[in-house]
Amino acid sequence: MDSRPIGVFDSGLGGLSVIKELNRVLPNENIVYFGDTGRVPYGTRSADTIVKYAKEDERFLLSHSVKLIIAACGTVSSVAAHTADSLPVPFIEVVTPAAKAAVRSTKSGKIGVLGTSATVSSNSYKKKMLEIRPDLEVTQVACPLFVQLVEAGWIDRNDEVTVATAKRYLQPLVEADVDTVILGCTHFPAIKGIIADIMGDSVTLINSGTEAALTAADYLKKNDLLGEGGQRRYFVSDRPESFSATAGILLGDEISQVETVSLEDFGGK
Ligand code: DGL
Repeated sequence: MDSRPIGVFDSGLGGLSVIKELNRVLPNENIVYFGDTGRVPYGTRSADTIVKYAKEDERFLLSHSVKLIIAACGTVSSVAAHTADSLPVPFIEVVTPAAKAAVRSTKSGKIGVLGTSATVSSNSYKKKMLEIRPDLEVTQVACPLFVQLVEAGWIDRNDEVTVATAKRYLQPLVEADVDTVILGCTHFPAIKGIIADIMGDSVTLINSGTEAALTAADYLKKNDLLGEGGQRRYFVSDRPESFSATAGILLGDEISQVETVSLEDFGGK
């Protein structure tokens, strides 16, 4: 038994796709969430900047004596997963679990990956999947505008701007006739209804946040690290009101308190 919190971080709201699943599978765990809303998006930045931000986010979570860190961010998982090497606690990223789930799911061997620009340029999901099954056909599309649309709360299934943007981004996946799509950025499950409407019922969507949460649950169980308390603490680096409004919709439950933190003490500017 270990009741120290699980630390979860993302550039903003995206990591709540991990929290949503953790709420379902590990409701008794204590969780500290950090969304770097003052510096979102990460996915259009250079690898050096993403690594720097990831290290600062991890230092902040360590200051809360977390027992495990989940990089609930496809971009950090793709570009900065090596920051885990210097961490004193275990680290779970979102790429490997989602890649494995997609390989299990596909029948045709044609898989699509949606991610940020940094994630797609890194080929992280593609490489992982080809390691498992080299004959796969993988089509990747960078969808940076999705991150901004989700952060703005434009997530309604009928939102005209988001639907039009999604139609344009998804066209290459429709043309490639994929049967499985990895939502490789943790922001994207927030608009999975729109993506499902365009891709159609026969296409399976893999939620990278859900898969990472299931991996974390499995890890804690196997290593006898489950805790109790069920406390949730949410921290952001800017605009807590805007975070809590959309977070409430995404989690289907109101978030009573969101605290603002300055990363200056953790190496940030
Ligand atoms: N949610 C993140 C990801 O999974 C980051 C998106 C961004 O900040 O660009 O990639």
